[in-house]
Amino acid sequence: MRNYSLNQRYIMSNKITIAIDGYSSSGKSTMARALAARIGYRYIDSGAMYRAVTLWAIRRGLTSADGSVDAGALVEHLPEIKIDFSLQPDGTAQHTMLCGEDVESEIRKINVSNYVSQVAAIPQVRHALVGMQQAMGKNKGIVMDGRDIGTTVFPDAELKIFVDASAQTRAQRRFSELVEKGSNVTFEEVLANVIHRDHIDQTREESPLRCADDALRLDNSHMTIEQQNAWLAEAFQSALEKTAK
Ligand code: DC
Repeated sequence: MRNYSLNQRYIMSNKITIAIDGYSSSGKSTMARALAARIGYRYIDSGAMYRAVTLWAIRRGLTSADGSVDAGALVEHLPEIKIDFSLQPDGTAQHTMLCGEDVESEIRKINVSNYVSQVAAIPQVRHALVGMQQAMGKNKGIVMDGRDIGTTVFPDAELKIFVDASAQTRAQRRFSELVEKGSNVTFEEVLANVIHRDHIDQTREESPLRCADDALRLDNSHMTIEQQNAWLAEAFQSALEKTAK
């Protein structure tokens, strides 16, 4: 393993764009957030934006018990949905804001997870959010994670990563997180949700989840968080060296 030797001034004067895509609960957000904090980049969790739109739809009664979403009504109201991120006092964590309200914990709940893939499959929702994401990254110096960051949002990103892990591993991680937060779910429910979301994310017409041709693939099923972070730091260093040439 090489030394992480680039100095901060060099990093800040040679900003690049980092796109991290992958399956739900693959641990991509954890590694993306850690890298951004380490190198002083802005971190954006694009999934949180789809979740915030979904929460808005649920609150307005635009979702039904059968799992469907009233796409027409949601699209009509899209201009009213304001999404932002507020930096927390620790300087690294960001909370998702929906029309000025902190919804960070609300958007992680299973009722939002149950509808978010349907919402994310609506082309007009994607166009609106992709536009916002591109504006956030126009000055580079950003780490963004999601499903279509390397393929659609930042196709010219200097560093693209695609993170994968087995559905069982990902469901176990998500289940432990939810139980820790006091949620009353079963492992089977979480696994079913993970598999269902994978299917919708991969088969939707508008920018489906897929690995960009020029992305580095990482299967982290058997890696610790420290190992992933070290791997990503090394990938970042190589990308920076390549762009400096
Ligand atoms: O990463 P996550 O599980 O919080 O994402 C929530 C949902 O949003 C997931 O079903 C996929 C979708 N999503 C997307 O379609 N495009 C993105 N860039 C990010 C998330």
